[in-house]
Amino acid sequence: MSNFANEKQGQDQFYLQYLPMVDKTLTTSQILNDYTDGVVNGNILEFKLQISNLNSTLLQAIKYLSVMRIKGKPVPKNILLVSLNDDKCYVYDSSNYLSDIEKVYIGGASTNNSSFVGGTPIQIIDMTSMAGQAQIINLLKQNNYTKINIDVNCIVGWAEYFYRINKSVKVRKEDFIGDASGLHKTVGEIRQPNLFKDYIYPYSGANNEEFGYLMDKLNDNLTKKNLGTFYTPELYAEKSLELLREAIKRVPKGNDYIILDRCAGTGNLELLLTDEELEHTIVSTLEYYEYRVLVERIGHKVRHIIPPIETTNTFNKGLVNGADALTQEYVENPIIQQYVQNEKCTIILFENPPYAETTSLEHQRAGKGKVSSVWKQSYVVHEMKKCVKGTALNDLGNVFIWSAFKYYLRHDTDSYVVYSPVKYWKVQKLIDKKFMGGFAFNRKHFHTNIDACVSCIYWSNENDKINNLMLDAYDIKFVKNGNTKTETLDYEGKIDVRRITEIFSKKYYDKRAFAKSFNNGIVTGLDGTERPNKSKKLKPLYSADMVGYMVAHAAGFDNPDAKSSLLVACRYDEHGFYLHKDNYLEKLPMFAASRYVTYNRHWTERARIMKSADGYVKYGKDVASGKCTTFLLKCLLFTVLETQNHCREFVGSDGRTYRNEFTLDTTNGATLAAKDLAGMKMNNEEKVLVNLWNGVISEAKKTKEYDSKWNYGIYQIINELDTTYIDPNGDTQYNYTQLHTNLTTLKQKVKEYYIKEIVPFLFHYEFLK
Ligand SMILES: C[S@@+](CC[C@H](N)C(=O)[O-])C[C@H]1O[C@@H](n2cnc3c(N)ncnc32)[C@H](O)[C@@H]1O
Repeated sequence: MSNFANEKQGQDQFYLQYLPMVDKTLTTSQILNDYTDGVVNGNILEFKLQISNLNSTLLQAIKYLSVMRIKGKPVPKNILLVSLNDDKCYVYDSSNYLSDIEKVYIGGASTNNSSFVGGTPIQIIDMTSMAGQAQIINLLKQNNYTKINIDVNCIVGWAEYFYRINKSVKVRKEDFIGDASGLHKTVGEIRQPNLFKDYIYPYSGANNEEFGYLMDKLNDNLTKKNLGTFYTPELYAEKSLELLREAIKRVPKGNDYIILDRCAGTGNLELLLTDEELEHTIVSTLEYYEYRVLVERIGHKVRHIIPPIETTNTFNKGLVNGADALTQEYVENPIIQQYVQNEKCTIILFENPPYAETTSLEHQRAGKGKVSSVWKQSYVVHEMKKCVKGTALNDLGNVFIWSAFKYYLRHDTDSYVVYSPVKYWKVQKLIDKKFMGGFAFNRKHFHTNIDACVSCIYWSNENDKINNLMLDAYDIKFVKNGNTKTETLDYEGKIDVRRITEIFSKKYYDKRAFAKSFNNGIVTGLDGTERPNKSKKLKPLYSADMVGYMVAHAAGFDNPDAKSSLLVACRYDEHGFYLHKDNYLEKLPMFAASRYVTYNRHWTERARIMKSADGYVKYGKDVASGKCTTFLLKCLLFTVLETQNHCREFVGSDGRTYRNEFTLDTTNGATLAAKDLAGMKMNNEEKVLVNLWNGVISEAKKTKEYDSKWNYGIYQIINELDTTYIDPNGDTQYNYTQLHTNLTTLKQKVKEYYIKEIVPFLFHYEFLK
């Protein structure tokens, strides 16, 4: 009888003895996935010191297999339950439990298992006998899997697996979900498994209607970005019908009306329309398999679908010929035009346009910038460029919004109910129309994982210039009810959206050169270190008077870490300005404002609150009169302790020593910040912050990496002194626990200080709006 003190000990011992006999290259970190006790080839293992209830342990393993199926991972055929201290291994065949594996479980795998009724094991192995040990080795070498059925719960996981393993080959969505029911007859992997032939049963559904709400998630990654597809959850779709119905109420007596959705996807917005409303609806969408689902779902009920029938010409490299809303052909489509030309017809557009901002860093980083800009070559963009300038042109959604008013809406009683991040109205000022009502929804529920605000606004086609909108904010809440989860709308009250006129760079950036500037300085990267200057145009300045370089760029908070910098020298892309000694303090609120969303992650803030310079007149006056002095020192204290302040000291390739003026470390002489903060009357919280800083710098000085010739700032300490190592389990550990602890506490306190002391001021002077 073994006598292990805990499961971990027994499990480690088991793997130590058996793994080398199965596959010498296997390590425990390769087999410990998805919270299981291990998956080795076609075996899932579950260890207990002593199994007292086989059924509940079996259900625990089944729950892990259920998760594997959902994630698109092959389901091992053998289930091995190891009872460590009585040296027994109970073997089950997972195919006997397929219906249990195909359920979706909520809650921890090891809880609520006592009422499960399992069968008897197919084998009980005595692990003390040589025969038993050989049997275990033999089982662990087996590579058999239980075939599962594809359904709505697991199809996304299997699609991701499919695209992952086919990364190098160009596979399209049709290769995965294609069917033979349409005119384009590529039969995909789920219906005729090839790569997955040992893992899945062929899906027998004749079409893909079952996966309607998931069709965006089934796109291959490239198409996903290209089409900007983020589907509307049902609860939001239902809520927005209230706005649509208000618009229908305005249809003048005696008029016909149409509801047009040019980018309907699989018809999520239309699913809860009444038959009468569908009678007035025209839909189309660009992606072929969406079109097919759209036809299945509502094709027979709507007034028109474009194209009305599928022909041999319809399928075009995964897209639908004639359905691209940005083409001239579509704008002039006679089916729609008959209503647009009819004076006695009211036009209502009801859309969640595709969202893709090609200049966003995420996009470029993913290397999709070029591919995704295909839509930028379209007819509608071409026409839009004649009327609209600037960043509004970078967003695919804006092209839909602009073209709605340009080509379809003509009368005061025409309307547009549109989902979109609100910046098109707030800062890009794409339209000036009459606001009739609207909602704020959480973007996280549109198949993304970003907490951000998406507006759904009902515009009347009447011109109107307003500066404020009030939206009713709704999140979606999950309510657990036994083994099921239901979703409900969660009302969070009214939130305002205020328009922005002035931006930082126009009103606040300091464009002066220094009295004695040299244009042979260096450039730095985002991390504050020097990097090669690749731009021929950029001539970085150097001056003895230079305090640093600040970037507080873009109104919104996408990629906040790339859009705000505080550095010792010019940033490589020159999106900022040089800080001067005489007025650097009054520039700091811009840097502070740039951190807002980092510290306020509630979904209503991102994409609603933005950076503005609208308060510049009042702010200028109050700075001049000294009214802001106390606050500016608070802002300075925040800045020196904020980890996005990437000022660090080094000797540049130009031979100059770059000093960090934004630190309280004065080992090598007082810094500008230390001098100015010396005069600050601090409250208790501020004293706590300074004490925590003292704790950080004194621990920093004890590290072996510390170099006494530098004044260290917070970021340089984090980057160069708070070093780590990898322990034998593969986990990261910090070399200097006390230093790391002090840094972590300081970060938390800085965040609290920011929210309490800095944010109200930033709103007061409209740095945040
Ligand atoms: C944000 S999704 C909305 C889908 C659906 N209306 C919903 O709310 O769930 C945008 C849709 O626009 C489609 N789309 C993208 N570019 C398009 C274009 N140029 N013309 C027509 N549809 C397009 C995408 O395939 C996607 O289905």
